[in-house]
Amino acid sequence: MAFTIGVAGKGGVGKTTVAGLIAQLLVERREGPVLVIDADPNTNFHQVLGLNVEQTIGELREETLRKIKDLPPGVTKDQYLEYGLQQCLVESNGLDLLAMGRGEGPFCYCAVNHVLRRYMDVLSKNYKYVVLDNEAGLEHLSRRTTQGLDLLLIVSDGYPVSLQAAERINALADELKLQIRKRFLVWNHLNNGTLSEPGRELIQGRIARTGLDCVGEIPRDEALLSLSLEGHPLRELPISSPARLAVRAILEKILKNEGGS
Ligand SMILES: Nc1ncnc2c1ncn2[C@@H]1O[C@H](COP(=O)(O)OP(=O)(O)O)[C@@H](O)[C@H]1O
Ligand SMILES: [Mg+2]
Repeated sequence: MAFTIGVAGKGGVGKTTVAGLIAQLLVERREGPVLVIDADPNTNFHQVLGLNVEQTIGELREETLRKIKDLPPGVTKDQYLEYGLQQCLVESNGLDLLAMGRGEGPFCYCAVNHVLRRYMDVLSKNYKYVVLDNEAGLEHLSRRTTQGLDLLLIVSDGYPVSLQAAERINALADELKLQIRKRFLVWNHLNNGTLSEPGRELIQGRIARTGLDCVGEIPRDEALLSLSLEGHPLRELPISSPARLAVRAILEKILKNEGGS
């Protein structure tokens, strides 16, 4: 079974960046293929990875429901969906991507989601790692359209509002009884350069009160910001970029704790 890492947090705190850097670093480890799942309805993980998405799973789900009565003879709904799901998978070197797309409308999606879940379970067995970029509501995890997680990284920039969001996500994961083996907070300094010692202690105190352990810090990285402003993919970030090095250190710490190399 693939080792699954989910990334969550308030909008704009750096979830997609962290998920993208993790995915890229996992590919570089050459231990096996990596599947990335964009579970944010504002699909943009592919841009960060420099890939194109032709169709999201949400679009396929709607299309299947629309066409269900007019399928060609001999083609079952399951076959139609499974074929469509294969088309949704964006394949690239060592890394494949699935975009979940928009959430569900007012129709009954149970039958479609059932096939979806089965496909996702089968699919994830082909990968060594799965990296899931969530939106703050954890919708796909709660609907079980994606499987449980070995690890949930909740990203925060240290501001009270994003730490409150981190707490809410942590509580939501409990309420929904999500299968998550470990959870950590990642402190991404994207909104501040240097902090005074008292300022740092203040934020560390706030982080401690969330009840989440901080697994590492990511410095504000001007090169990363320019890259993103200009619309370039993360792979163009220099190997020595401070944010990339920080995410690498976090990943190594996590995998070491898991008994990996
Ligand atoms: N450590 C960092 N230093 C500088 N810019 C960052 C950092 N982390 C994220 N960013 C930038 O902040 C913006 C929001 O990040 P993003 O990953 O899209 O957030 P989210 O997915 O949580 O909405 C992007 O432009 C990204 O490049
Ligand atoms: Mg994002």
